[in-house]
Amino acid sequence: MISRSSSCFLSAGLCYSLGLGWLQKDRMLLGSLGLLLALSTLCSSLDNGLVRTPPMGWMTWERYRCNIDCKKDPENCISEHLIKSMADKMANSGWRDFGYEYVSIDDCWSEKKRDANGRLQPDVERFPSGIKALADYVHSKGLKLGIYGDMGNYTCGGYPGTTLDTIKIDAETFAAWEVDMLKFDGCYSNSTEKAIGYPKMSAALNATGRPILYSCSWPAYEGGLPPKVNYTLLGTICNMWRNYGDIQDSWDSVLNIIQWFARNQDVLQPAAGPGRWNDPDMVIAGDFGLSYEQSKAQMTIWAILAAPLFMSSDLRTISEDAKEILQNRILLYINQDALGKQGRRVITSGPLGVWKRELVNGQYAVAVLNKGTDGTPKPYVTSLGLLNITQCTEGYKLYDVFAQEFWGEFKSDTAINMQINPTGVVLLFIRPASIAHHP
Ligand SMILES: *[C@@H]1O[C@H](CO)[C@@H](O)[C@H](O)[C@H]1NC(C)=O
Ligand SMILES: *[C@@H]1O[C@H](CO)[C@@H](O)[C@H](O)[C@H]1NC(C)=O
Ligand SMILES: *[C@@H]1O[C@H](CO)[C@@H](O)[C@H](O)[C@H]1NC(C)=O
Ligand SMILES: *[C@@H]1O[C@H](CO)[C@@H](O)[C@H](O)[C@H]1NC(C)=O
Ligand SMILES: *[C@@H]1O[C@H](CO)[C@@H](O)[C@H](O)[C@H]1NC(C)=O
Repeated sequence: MISRSSSCFLSAGLCYSLGLGWLQKDRMLLGSLGLLLALSTLCSSLDNGLVRTPPMGWMTWERYRCNIDCKKDPENCISEHLIKSMADKMANSGWRDFGYEYVSIDDCWSEKKRDANGRLQPDVERFPSGIKALADYVHSKGLKLGIYGDMGNYTCGGYPGTTLDTIKIDAETFAAWEVDMLKFDGCYSNSTEKAIGYPKMSAALNATGRPILYSCSWPAYEGGLPPKVNYTLLGTICNMWRNYGDIQDSWDSVLNIIQWFARNQDVLQPAAGPGRWNDPDMVIAGDFGLSYEQSKAQMTIWAILAAPLFMSSDLRTISEDAKEILQNRILLYINQDALGKQGRRVITSGPLGVWKRELVNGQYAVAVLNKGTDGTPKPYVTSLGLLNITQCTEGYKLYDVFAQEFWGEFKSDTAINMQINPTGVVLLFIRPASIAHHP
């Protein structure tokens, strides 16, 4: 059997040699391990059985905002047409098979008024078939539907919000529509209302009997250093939570978020685990604002952080380069690791930051990010010893995730030489040498 402590040696049934298909087998292994770990997890998290690994999917906001002009811009306005066309792409262009599962509508989907029974209702022109029919469509593609609400008088876009007295009816409405996820924003409420409302919505969703991924924007509204929310409590009421401000389509924005997560990692890192994830916000790799190097950098740090991966880009026109990054098998394997332990920044050296995440079976991911912009790749030399990856005395195999290159076997004092491109990253996947040595 698999034991988490004897990570240097695995039973023959779980081992295979490094070569074609090695990762596919890992993904199967991941599935069975996930179940074992789910049963043995010690930390307490929202008990709805969902997202034992970080959720993956697509979300409207960063790319499509509050575009409601379907007359002038029918292909890009927030509408059932947009959601269906993304669901089609997710099912037909490989995304679903890589684990991208949720198709999520953000703000600006509803009418400006509740209906005669006090229920939220979708905009009749943009969602003529209704949300239940849209959920049926998304489900028929093997995907899940997400929706958006706001704890407060209005949504951030000015649509009807959920006040303390409409939490129950809104939870029931979402469940009746067979929605699978709720992103619950926090505009137009004060701290006291949020402190009552977020746990109350959690209980109301539970009472519907439908497992609904609950994404809370609460801590993003209570910012500050150190963060002012109780992360232990968050983990017991929410499946994921936005910690910080909205991501924008730029490297500045991505770097700002990364640095905020690094500065606050002593609070954030222990809060995450199976069923409860920190959310640095949507993946903009594949959009307009990031270079190829920067796209790899965002995905790398999100993988190290065990972050939810919600793309917000146009999957109908996305470039092959971006798709290759977003569908990098080993990167996704790292993000989806069953141990569910968020990584940390462990070393800084000039413009370089070294990030490390512990994975199942004594494996690790190590990333070096170069935030420098002087146009020259930076050399960096380290070793497994310096990285404190020394448990397996027979050594480790190193694999460069983006170059898709096997670097060989390393002992604890073997020099690891890298060149990190400006605003770029090197991501290494590190596994005990014994794993691949097995027949
Ligand atoms: C509701 O909470 C209970 C107790 O934590 C849990 O056993 C149950 O699975 C939850 N149900 C849903 C639908 O989330
Ligand atoms: C929400 O509406 C109530 C009732 O109109 C009002 O008293 C309160 O100040 C509003 N809260 C916010 C944060 O806008
Ligand atoms: C927050 O809003 C509630 C209800 O609208 C009100 O009773 C309370 O005084 C407000 N609290 C603060 C700190 O503003
Ligand atoms: C944070 O929440 C947890 C779980 O609800 C609770 O046990 C703990 O006392 C809270 N901590 C603080 C400082 O309020
Ligand atoms: C390695 O461990 C030492 C001693 O605990 C610690 O000072 C150092 O920061 C660690 N380095 C890394 C990269 O984790």
